[in-house]
Amino acid sequence: MGILNLLFTVTIILCINSSHIHGYDPLDPYGKIIIKWDLLLSSPGHHEVKVTLENKQEYRHVEKPGWKLRWHWVNKEVIWDMRGAETTEQGNCSAFASGTLPHCCLRRPTIVDLLPGAAPLNSQVSNCCRGGVLTSMSQDHINHVSAFHMSIGSFPDDPGEFSMPYNFDIGVPGYSCDNATSVVPTKYIADKGRHKTQALATWEAVCVYSQFRSSQSPKCCVSLSAFYYQNIVPCPVCSCGCSSSHCVKPGETPPYLQQKHNPEEEVSPVVECTKHMCPIHIHWHVKVNYREYWRVKITASNYNTMKNYSDWNLVVLHPNLKSVQQVFSFNYKSLTPYNDGINDTGMFWGVKFYNDVLLQAGEIGNVQTELLLKKDMVDFTFREGWAFPRRILFNGDECVMPSPDDYPRLPNSVSPSAVISILTIVFCFLLLLLA
Ligand SMILES: *[C@@H]1O[C@H](CO)[C@@H](O)[C@H](O)[C@H]1NC(C)=O
Ligand SMILES: *[C@@H]1O[C@H](CO)[C@@H](O)[C@H](O)[C@H]1NC(C)=O
Ligand SMILES: *[C@@H]1O[C@H](CO)[C@@H](O)[C@H](O)[C@H]1NC(C)=O
Ligand SMILES: *[C@@H]1O[C@H](CO)[C@@H](O)[C@H](O)[C@H]1NC(C)=O
Repeated sequence: MGILNLLFTVTIILCINSSHIHGYDPLDPYGKIIIKWDLLLSSPGHHEVKVTLENKQEYRHVEKPGWKLRWHWVNKEVIWDMRGAETTEQGNCSAFASGTLPHCCLRRPTIVDLLPGAAPLNSQVSNCCRGGVLTSMSQDHINHVSAFHMSIGSFPDDPGEFSMPYNFDIGVPGYSCDNATSVVPTKYIADKGRHKTQALATWEAVCVYSQFRSSQSPKCCVSLSAFYYQNIVPCPVCSCGCSSSHCVKPGETPPYLQQKHNPEEEVSPVVECTKHMCPIHIHWHVKVNYREYWRVKITASNYNTMKNYSDWNLVVLHPNLKSVQQVFSFNYKSLTPYNDGINDTGMFWGVKFYNDVLLQAGEIGNVQTELLLKKDMVDFTFREGWAFPRRILFNGDECVMPSPDDYPRLPNSVSPSAVISILTIVFCFLLLLLA
């Protein structure tokens, strides 16, 4: 058992590292954010561009305070005008001493989305003005895209040819972007579809997420219980790290009430003091056993005193998700990234205006669902930890699971860890081969 556990740990570490360094997520293998540039008009010294950010990820989203797009100009470009977004700084425009000044003269501008409701109509374009928030593709068909328009010119001593900028950055922790490459020009529908126009040229830069790059410590953990087992198996101690040990004790005033923070910046979590020290805690309870069905209750709790999680989501891997009969109080979507008929992964998210916001600790602070699963007589069992999830992700970040040795077990059954270790090793080995 000792050797197996060691092998298990080593494989897990290798597995997590390999997938995270490359930003490759086997549950969302095509997930990415695309920055698209459509050159709409171009003459020396005057170029019109439409920039689109599209979140092509099944479950990851960009939350408040939103994206902050940066790039590096190749020549001495300036931005004369912007619709649907603005730069954070104008920079030094003293070369244009006479007449109106450009909107931005920086070599490396930072662009932010306009705030919802605040932008005057003449400075809006479609898909703009959502404060930089991009929903996940599964949760929303419209708000996973953001767009703005720019008029680009150049300094007086520059010939004013258009060159695609480089070194893109979306300003969201965990993402890194490639340089843009030229793609097939975007087509636009005109005259109710009878006529199509197209961009003069189109480029795309691809940004991918890596949890490893986003933060060194995990952001959530999982605890387990079952009707046939007397104890609750808690989250592992210090799942989310205990070294940065500032936490709020019961009765203490959370810091968000004490200090004003800049709404433009992501606030680092301040958690309620627990043994796991995670901002998010997921509990999986095997609740009832029927003849043909069984019932699970999932609870997500917020221990972060600094944040309400809007449009939160959970991704769960469990073999019985292929036979989901009913999901109560949450939305559900089966994820089948490889179209290979294996649908053991599902995504859960809140019902709009009911439980789509997971309120900060101190408020209600949790959301719950129950699932009814149909027993598949070939593999259904309460033995060997089978009834528990293989993986859980909250907002796209992997949650820490208890050790298989500690899983609830049926009276007089063997430890499930051997089986799970071997399965995990095989699974990770396959992943390593793929990556
Ligand atoms: C602003 O730019 C001009 C030339 O465009 C330069 O002469 C001047 O020194 C710059 N000012 C500052 C404060 O950098
Ligand atoms: C993008 O291009 C610039 C200039 O050619 C280069 O310095 C940079 O390393 C490239 N970035 C990436 C991520 O390839
Ligand atoms: C979270 O939502 C509650 C209730 O709507 C609100 O009172 C609180 O200020 C919000 N917290 C943050 C950090 O925005
Ligand atoms: C999973 O796939 C099986 C077989 O392809 C299908 O019968 C079942 O309805 C699917 N389940 C879900 C939840 O999509």
